[in-house]
Amino acid sequence: MLDSNGLQHPQSAQLILFGAMGDLAWRLVGPALFNLFLDQQLPAQFSLVGIDRKIDTNQLCQRWQDGVVKFSRRGAPSAADWSAFAQCIDAHTMDIRDKASYAALKQVLNSGADTSDAQVFYLAIPPGLFAAVAEGLASVGLHRDRSRCRVVVEKPLGDSLAAFQEIDRSLRAHFKERQIYRMDHFLGKETVQNILAMRFANPIFEPIWNRRYIDHIAVTVAEDIGVGHRAGYYEHAGALRDMVQNHLLQLMCLVAMEPPVAYDADDIRNKKLDVLRACRQIPADEVSSYAVRGQYAKGWIEGVAVPGYRDEADIDAHSNVETYAAVKLLVDNWRWQGVPFYLRTGKRMAAAVSEISIRFRDIPHNAFPATTGLNSQPVRLVIQMQPEEGMILKFMAKEPGSPLRLRPVDMRFSYCEAFKKPSPGAYETLLRDVLQGDATLFMRSDQVAAAWTLLMPILDAWTANPAPDFPNYPAGTWGPEAAERLVARDGSAWLTPSHAESREVYDCTPHD
Ligand code: BG6
Repeated sequence: MLDSNGLQHPQSAQLILFGAMGDLAWRLVGPALFNLFLDQQLPAQFSLVGIDRKIDTNQLCQRWQDGVVKFSRRGAPSAADWSAFAQCIDAHTMDIRDKASYAALKQVLNSGADTSDAQVFYLAIPPGLFAAVAEGLASVGLHRDRSRCRVVVEKPLGDSLAAFQEIDRSLRAHFKERQIYRMDHFLGKETVQNILAMRFANPIFEPIWNRRYIDHIAVTVAEDIGVGHRAGYYEHAGALRDMVQNHLLQLMCLVAMEPPVAYDADDIRNKKLDVLRACRQIPADEVSSYAVRGQYAKGWIEGVAVPGYRDEADIDAHSNVETYAAVKLLVDNWRWQGVPFYLRTGKRMAAAVSEISIRFRDIPHNAFPATTGLNSQPVRLVIQMQPEEGMILKFMAKEPGSPLRLRPVDMRFSYCEAFKKPSPGAYETLLRDVLQGDATLFMRSDQVAAAWTLLMPILDAWTANPAPDFPNYPAGTWGPEAAERLVARDGSAWLTPSHAESREVYDCTPHD
């Protein structure tokens, strides 16, 4: 059945979730599926088989119900809704490393909706186990129906180009590229998808979206949380791998890509790949001119004292892992030649805010007297992704009355005001797309490889040379000073994100 957007809606689907008792399933996948169920976005016949080492259906339902209560955007479910959803859930115990156990899995799956339009294997497990599952499924022919059968994986997809290629080889040995859905949850966020709508559904942006009018573009994804309970993962990842390699580069691609011919998975992904291919390679001996790393020291977040990274639970007291990364990229093509893209992300920063700031060039000639205050703020377009969702155009306007004075003002679009309905969560959008077989918002293998290739010189330099100045930014600040210098060398500056700007005006909580 086709919907009003021409998308195929499967009438039946089977989701097989490896790692059903794990954190990802509990916090994100379960609540997202439940919300899709409430919104009647799941196929009419939907079944879920949760797989783990030791699991029974009651236990699984209880854990998922708890996850929904804690993490769903809708809060605690009604008993009736939950029990209707729980009807779709079954649990299956197996050791996924044991190849012999896949025959039993096949039997379980075939005894249910074996003719479902979609059969999705979601690997919510560490990447070290992907190969075993892919091999196990293939050994019993569960990979064979190329149009119906899909596999979903999430980062970390390796910690280097070589490691990614190895993981990828193990999946592609059995599945075709079109069956593999590599998830980057940022691409499921409404505000991120809106970048394409804003750029290509309006005629006014495209003519100025280039080096003639744009001075530079800054992408900020700042978090105020610390490493939390993820020390085991984060100590091997760090901010560059955790955020820049995937989320921030994806955002940059959406901002920088050429217009697609059609809103079609391959066309959009080809155009995004072109951006990564056009990025200037960072010379191994010039990494410090392109990238800055930081690690948080103790400090204050919203008036509360928080420990430094090295004092967090299970973190090495001499850890060299970066919790902040800023990167400058240059895109060598006609549109962007000479326009720097600055990407920065960090934990324990001054505010939790994600936005893209498009800084326009200054006017070519200033006809106003200096006393009018022109250029006290550059003209820029801010795409707000979190916590505010919308766009702000910041420009100069005349203050009422005389003498003539010019002042920066904001023209705002807010999702919440415009649409008056809550946005679906990123996992909801992405899970619905997988079930429908729409890969537009998923990453293709060549894209992921290109992102790793771009960052390898930085990763290699940082691994070979431990940071002499860690920790180098107090929690609750905007990151290390070196990041200011990175952009100041080009005559630019990071501007305080717009959400934090307004918070700074009204927030009187004591800071460090
Ligand atoms: C994840 C990272 O991919 O994204 C986390 O591993 C980070 O470190 C998270 O906190 C941020 O996502 P969101 O949706 O909360 O902005």
